[in-house]
Parts: sequence; structure tokens; C-alpha cells
Amino acid sequence: MKSPANSLLNFPGHRPRRMRRDDWSRRLMQENSVSTNDLIYPVFLLEGQGKSEAVASMPGVNRVSLDLLFPVAQECVDLGIPVLALFPVIDAALKTPDGKEAFNPKGLIPSAVRELKKRFPNLGIMTDVALDPYTSHGQDGVLDEQGRILNDETTAILVQQAVAQAEAGVDIVAPSDMMDGRIGKIREALEQKKLIHTRIMAYSAKYASAFYGPFRDAVGSAKNLGKADKKTYQMDCANGDEALREVALDISEGADMVMVKPGMPYLDIVRRVREEFDYPTYAYQVSGEYAMLKAAAQNGWLDHDAVMMESLLAFKRAGADGVLTYFALEAARLIKAAN
Ligand code: PBG
Repeated sequence: MKSPANSLLNFPGHRPRRMRRDDWSRRLMQENSVSTNDLIYPVFLLEGQGKSEAVASMPGVNRVSLDLLFPVAQECVDLGIPVLALFPVIDAALKTPDGKEAFNPKGLIPSAVRELKKRFPNLGIMTDVALDPYTSHGQDGVLDEQGRILNDETTAILVQQAVAQAEAGVDIVAPSDMMDGRIGKIREALEQKKLIHTRIMAYSAKYASAFYGPFRDAVGSAKNLGKADKKTYQMDCANGDEALREVALDISEGADMVMVKPGMPYLDIVRRVREEFDYPTYAYQVSGEYAMLKAAAQNGWLDHDAVMMESLLAFKRAGADGVLTYFALEAARLIKAAN
């Protein structure tokens, strides 16, 4: 009974408000729901100890040193959040044009992964594969003379970065760089090293979006990047079919999960990917989306908890299996309190 043209759906024979009348009948016909199992929590990691810095453009988000991340990881475990996603804030002194600190096995991220897996063996840990936190120019790879990113040279470094993270014990590597062919190269290297359990979540349809602004403040790449953009590798926001080609490539190259990013303005892409591939599909509710909702809520213009849960539900309705969201902890606490 899909078609509203069906004669059975004519008024007054059919009164849709009947099923909306009571809480129990609304619950009975609810098609989608948000559970804690759907949430991936992105966090920003600082070098050192006892350090916590607020991110001005992301109210409620702090960049913290590893010791202060342990209680956060513990809360994720207690609430049942499946995965913590780590993003590093790298000392300016360690940034180079080629971003080689990215594959230092003793670097901030591999060290944090080892410590977290030791203490929280059942919490999934995910790491970003991209060079932007590590490059002196803030781009996700190495540049040619015109300032364009060199694809294959960058991929060779990304492979080393992914292997360093996997050898440290990370559960999911998440290439967010948008180089061509990197999923295949990373998968091949992981196989060669017998790192057969490392999952790959590919940022497959990642757009050259202005919604990443607050994230670039948080990891400290904004000032290095300056007025430059990422349009030679991230996708044109005008395109939809291209996203499906990117997803097809990443699946064929060995991705275990695919992602669409940003989230809310790209729910049409999430839905198309879900329908076309029926493959584990995730969406990233990015920093700018979070900042928007937080700012409006702080002004009293939106009901914080209501819009948070509504936005997460929208991802599920669009067909996502899960959401990377800075709201993960707050949403999980709310879900727990309601049960
Ligand atoms: C790095 C990366 C970015 C984000 C995740 N990984 C920024 C970018 O591509 O410039 C954005 C996440 C967010 O905005 O919340 N490649």
C-alpha cells in the first residue's frame, strides 16, 4: 500500500491522525529510532598532560591530553558508545611540508591508540588517515609547485600512516583525504602486514564543504590553510552521481564501511548510497553543523535536546547505520536517562 493514490487511503476512510493520537500508537508505528549503538564520538587530542582547552567555535567540545581522555573513554564504555574517533592537535614545530610526523610510530596518535586499547579493550578506536594536522600548509597531502596535491606521492605517505596506526592496534582506520586509489593501497599494505582485522571506514563521499570551519580551528590547521581550499580533491557540493562512483570505487578497493560527509545538508546522498549499495553506511554530522545547533540553542532559539535527537533520527531515516557526531555523549546520556 505504497501509493497514496490507493483508494483505501481516501478520507474519511483513512484518518492518519488516529495513529498519532496516543503515545503508545505513535510508538507502535515508529519506523526509525536512535540508539547508543549508532554513535561514534569524535574527540580532539592534545600532546602533554593535564591539558584541556575549550574550542571556541564548538561549545561543549574540549581538546584534551590523553590522561583527560581516559575518563571520557570510560564514559563511552559505560554508556555503550561503540567507537571513539581520535583527531590530533599537532605541535607547530612538528609540522612539515610532507607531514611525515603522521607515520611516526611514537607519535601522538599511535601512542594514544596503544594506551587506550590497553585500558579499554572493548571500546572501538578509530583514527583519521589524512595529513592536514601534520602539514605546514594545512592541506591533506604533499603539494606540487602550483600548490595542487600530488595523488600517488600522498597516497604512499597515507599508507605508512595507516600501517603505523594499525600496528599500534587501532580498530578502524578512516581515510579522510580523498586521494584516488588510497583505499586499495591501504588494504593491500594491511594484508601484507597480516593486519587482517583492521577495518577501513572510507570517507568516500567527502565534499569540499564550508561546514568544516570549526574543526580546522580545533586541530589548528585553519591558519596554515589560510584562504586555500580543498576543491582539487574533495568533491564539488553540486554533485550527487559522483558520490555514487566514489562509493563504488572504495567498496571495490576493500572498504568495510563507507561514509558521507557533511551530514545534514547531504541526507539525499546518504539515502542514495544506502539504496544503491546496501553496504554499511555512515554519516558525519560535522563541526559546522554542531556549531550551528549549539549556537542557536545557546541563544534560546532552538530546544537543544530536541533538535539534537531530531537531527540524529534524520540520519537514521535517511538510511545511515551510524553517525559520527560531537553530540554522541550528550545524546547517549539522554537515551540512557529515558530508558
Ligand atoms: C581531515 C578532516 C576534516 C574533517 C575530518 N577529517 C577537515 C577537512 O577535511 O578539512 C572535518 C570534520 C568536521 O568538520 O567535523 N581531513
